[in-house]
Amino acid sequence: MTSFAVVRTGQLLTLAGEEPGRWDAPLNVIADGAVWVEDGRIRAVGTTTEVAALLPSGIETKDCGGKGVVTPGFVDAHTHLPFAGHRAEDFALKCQGASYQEVAAQGGGIRRSIGHLRACADLLQVVRRRLGWIRAAGTVAAEVKSGYGLEPEWEALQLEAIQTLQAESDDVYLSPTFLALHGPPPGDPNSRRELLEQAIHQTLPDFARRKLCNAVDAFIEAGYYTQDEARELARAAKQLSLKVRLHVDQFSDQGGAQLAAELGCATADHLEHTSELGFQALAESGTVPVFLPTSVHALRLHKYPEAKAAMEAGLAFALATDFNPGSAPSPSMAFAMHLGCLRMGLSPAQAWRAATLHPAHALGIQRDFGSIEPGKRGAILFWELDDPEEVPYWIDGPRPVRLDL
Ligand code: NIG
Ligand code: FE
Repeated sequence: MTSFAVVRTGQLLTLAGEEPGRWDAPLNVIADGAVWVEDGRIRAVGTTTEVAALLPSGIETKDCGGKGVVTPGFVDAHTHLPFAGHRAEDFALKCQGASYQEVAAQGGGIRRSIGHLRACADLLQVVRRRLGWIRAAGTVAAEVKSGYGLEPEWEALQLEAIQTLQAESDDVYLSPTFLALHGPPPGDPNSRRELLEQAIHQTLPDFARRKLCNAVDAFIEAGYYTQDEARELARAAKQLSLKVRLHVDQFSDQGGAQLAAELGCATADHLEHTSELGFQALAESGTVPVFLPTSVHALRLHKYPEAKAAMEAGLAFALATDFNPGSAPSPSMAFAMHLGCLRMGLSPAQAWRAATLHPAHALGIQRDFGSIEPGKRGAILFWELDDPEEVPYWIDGPRPVRLDL
């Protein structure tokens, strides 16, 4: 476990002491700031003068010389990290104007990724490399879904890879979700029923017992899975004390937000087409919205989630990457923030909350992540920039450096 101090930062963005959802409060930034981390946990934060008075002698110290920005690490509340292969062929079709649905009809889409997963000789090695991508982009905690296996043994392979990677790396926290209903359902109603029954009665209890996941998820959309199927899955998950997340209202307003609220979901994700009523329902149920603007961008769509309506409903929503090989081939939280600002009207300060503090609450890890304050993990970032508001502004700008590694 690391012990170190960082002193004389240009600006130190702490987000300390903030309640989620205070969208208009000024950002908590300390000029000439310092942080002391002991055994991996933050001991003190303040100005350099304040923290220097507390430091034990001989502690490894990074002196920023009055330059650079220090921030909390990103918390990415929605990724499909354990995928295999790529979908560059789908990308080429999209470049010619094909829609997500048309790409899928031509043999691409989620089905293509299922094929890649099953053909992958060394999934662990592939996922380890992808984990390196999110780490390099400044993510210190991420939700990671299966969903490219469809059948239990392949789904298990994805979640086992995550379990192994978590055991070998304590520098990124991984929160695993079994995405039980994702790929196109079998056309035959009997096999479709069988898939759900198997998930509920066998796969879910088995994964819960093996601690392969702490949540379950489903893609609720016309042509994919139904509200009633989500209800059955959620009921089974609750009995096993697993959390529920749902992909809802991505391509049309299906009342998915209201469904997520009814089922007491921990998060409701996508929500591009959610109405004010939907956001009100989420606020009443305490379900955290997770917006995925990268997928709107990469699918060449134009309808981004209504962030202002969500704020007015009092929601402390999160921004996430949706990192996957099809609709969101980007591990970058900074890019998701960029789109959140330009396409959804967030201020850079609001985007920072949605990329750190709020997703930490959404994943229930706010005691460890989401801000720089005593007691939390010292997973903090240094940026060669002058102002934290530059992070969502630059496109593919400088990479952060993890100070604790
Ligand atoms: O969150 N919407 C469904 N699932 C993913 C896309 C997965 C894929 O295309 O491989 C999403 O956008
Ligand atoms: Fe997704």
